[in-house]
Amino acid sequence: MSKDLLGWHLLPREDWDRALSAALDHKRMGRVTSTVASGRGICLMFFNSSLRTRTSMEVAAAQLGAHVSTVTPGSGVWGLSFEDGAVMDGAEAEHVREAAGVLSRYYDAIGVRLFASLSNLEQDRSDRLIERFAAGADVPVVNLESAFWHPCQELADAATISSHFEGHTAGKKLVLAWSYHPKALPMAVPNSAVMMAARLGMHITIARPEGYALDPSVMSMAGDAAASSGGSLQESTDRLAAFEGADVVYAKGWAGSGVYVNADVEAERRRGLTEWRTTADAMRRTNRAAFMHCLPVRRNVVVDDAVLDGHDAIHLLQAEFRLHAQKAILEMIWDLDHNAR
Ligand code: CP
Repeated sequence: MSKDLLGWHLLPREDWDRALSAALDHKRMGRVTSTVASGRGICLMFFNSSLRTRTSMEVAAAQLGAHVSTVTPGSGVWGLSFEDGAVMDGAEAEHVREAAGVLSRYYDAIGVRLFASLSNLEQDRSDRLIERFAAGADVPVVNLESAFWHPCQELADAATISSHFEGHTAGKKLVLAWSYHPKALPMAVPNSAVMMAARLGMHITIARPEGYALDPSVMSMAGDAAASSGGSLQESTDRLAAFEGADVVYAKGWAGSGVYVNADVEAERRRGLTEWRTTADAMRRTNRAAFMHCLPVRRNVVVDDAVLDGHDAIHLLQAEFRLHAQKAILEMIWDLDHNAR
């Protein structure tokens, strides 16, 4: 397998299947610590804020016996320049080539969180910045959420759904419910969500307003993955009709593709879409759907209190699975014996 986890679509399917099985196994085992990764270390670089990804990876590494350092480029460690041939006379004091090369000599893996620019579509679509990090590193690089993908969330989400339905995910209906958010959010989570649901053989409906389609490259890949798993992928601009008969509602906001053309125009359009919120009324149209959100979530903006505090919300289980999935990912990239305790 590849040394990196930049996106599950870049790895063989058997790596995904094995990691999903391992994440479910970690959930079954509970809080078991081991020394299987003793002597190894991982450096986590957060260019953007995080609660779950940072802490779950720190705890996962610790429970496997590994050392963790967490750094924030530009705050306590040098800001990084990514461009080849850059004349570095600005704020960034270090180039990614040196940073990745140096960390490869201290650590056995590097995790990187680096969100989308939302201004340069080709850079975001190609995940160019995290690819540059991986190109400069001699150890595995784990994507902790890049411009286009969030593979740690993707694995945790699949494990959550699989656990909730006791493995019977094929044929279930998942609605990816676009949600109003005051900020322009990147597409990494929704991109990853459609891919994981497609691999689980689910019937996916993306409920979203005009102008908020996911990238055609992702739609094409997810459509193929769904078809080969016995599922399907469709879109609807009828928010409430899309909820009919759903088994899972996954709420998430993301910026429209117009953000790459004119961010002010996209923001103005988004401000007119506040009714795109998951309410208890909307949930009553479903097949008592499990409610999911990757978190952090804005209460009563993205989803009403009544849904989050109701019996069908599984967002905290979903967050718990972040820890189980991180352990499975560390085992995969370091080729550790999952059964060693
Ligand atoms: N879902 C998720 O990635 O959460 P954080 O941004 O808190 O890491």
